[in-house]
Amino acid sequence: MPNCTDHNPNSSSFLFLIFLFLFFVSVSLSSSLDCNAGDRATLLKIKDQLGNPPELASWQPGFNCCSWNAIECSESGRVYLVAFFRLTLQASSVPVPAALGDLPFLRTIQLDTIPGLAGPIPSSFSKLSQLEILDVESTNVSGPIPAFLSRTNLSALILSNSNFSGPIPTALASLPNLRYLDLSGNRLSGQIPPGLLHGTFRFLILSDNQLSGEIPKDYGEGDIDTVDLSHNELTGDASFLLGITKPATKLDLSWNELAFDLTRVMVPHGLTYLDLSHNRIKGRVPKSLKDVRLHYLNLTYNELCGEIPTGRFMVYHKADSYLHNKCLCGTPLPACRRLSRKILECNEHINDRPLWDSAPRVPSPVKKNSKMQRAY
Ligand SMILES: *[C@@H]1O[C@H](CO)[C@@H](O)[C@H](O)[C@H]1NC(C)=O
Ligand SMILES: *[C@@H]1O[C@H](CO)[C@@H](O)[C@H](O)[C@H]1NC(C)=O
Ligand SMILES: *[C@@H]1O[C@H](CO)[C@@H](O)[C@H](O)[C@H]1NC(C)=O
Ligand SMILES: *[C@@H]1O[C@H](CO)[C@@H](O)[C@H](O)[C@H]1NC(C)=O
Repeated sequence: MPNCTDHNPNSSSFLFLIFLFLFFVSVSLSSSLDCNAGDRATLLKIKDQLGNPPELASWQPGFNCCSWNAIECSESGRVYLVAFFRLTLQASSVPVPAALGDLPFLRTIQLDTIPGLAGPIPSSFSKLSQLEILDVESTNVSGPIPAFLSRTNLSALILSNSNFSGPIPTALASLPNLRYLDLSGNRLSGQIPPGLLHGTFRFLILSDNQLSGEIPKDYGEGDIDTVDLSHNELTGDASFLLGITKPATKLDLSWNELAFDLTRVMVPHGLTYLDLSHNRIKGRVPKSLKDVRLHYLNLTYNELCGEIPTGRFMVYHKADSYLHNKCLCGTPLPACRRLSRKILECNEHINDRPLWDSAPRVPSPVKKNSKMQRAY
């Protein structure tokens, strides 16, 4: 199992606000409602399918199910939210309750931090045409991500830190409102399908998987807030995810096999987090970085070269943002003068002399010298 991923403050506060909103809406509505008899029978079946965990002791026949914990009802007494967090399961491996698919008005399902929950997402979930949020995180739920989820109305799909494998189904691209996708910390493979996200304030979090191939170009368009594709096997160019007009606040592409030239990239002004470490990124540290107030910058373990730009917000970044590149120099790394030949060699591929060779050299052609003066 991959490790837990970095928790993005933006994504968690977004979810927190959704849950807070649902909570207040329900508190104001649910107290005096009587629950639908069919929904109550289904909830009791869910409790049974989970092996009667102690946290659901209040779920008793003959009581108004709208007052039970972990659920919320609408004005008409229909259950629209089921949120389980840290259930104590009696068996070591309990399947996801198929009866959840028999609550036709469900808009939110949360199954969070339930290690004993295992097996696939049941096909009954394909009946949940109103489902907007499916959050299965820190479980052992496994199998492929089912394509039938495209029959729901998901705006947020979180299947993280679990045991999902196989490709990301392209069918998810037909969910018209999907704008929050977190599939991090699984064993997903294959390419990232294009067009999965729609609408404003989009999140694409696919870190800690085995995804490969190139990142589809359309993720550089639209109102994308967060892209975290770290710890995968992605290749090719990702410079299109940066660009001065992009509203992105977090971009983490670390630990991939991305290869592109960073020199002329225009870093978006709203960006606060940029991690490109452990790739094969070449060129120089872009000058546009000066004008961006990043809280986190990591360009380590790449093939960058040349003098690090100075001024404005660059003062906040220390050496551990730049180490282990090909030949970066200048503040906060050692000065460039001392390294100029090394820089010249790696930038211009002038010869294949070892970098440590300090023996006097025959005067180099004027062309090379003038290039060096222009560049530094
Ligand atoms: C999955 O199950 C194993 C035990 O079989 C457990 O150690 C692990 O914590 C579980 N994973 C999650 C994310 O709950
Ligand atoms: C689908 O979800 C959107 C919000 O993302 C909501 O406005 C719309 O009413 C929902 N449609 C159905 C059929 O539930
Ligand atoms: C994870 O999924 C694989 C099959 O995809 C399965 O063999 C394994 O038992 C699962 N692990 C857990 C802890 O459920
Ligand atoms: C950047 O990442 C490297 C390795 O992954 C780490 O050692 C370094 O401390 C990180 N830099 C910062 C500024 O956190």
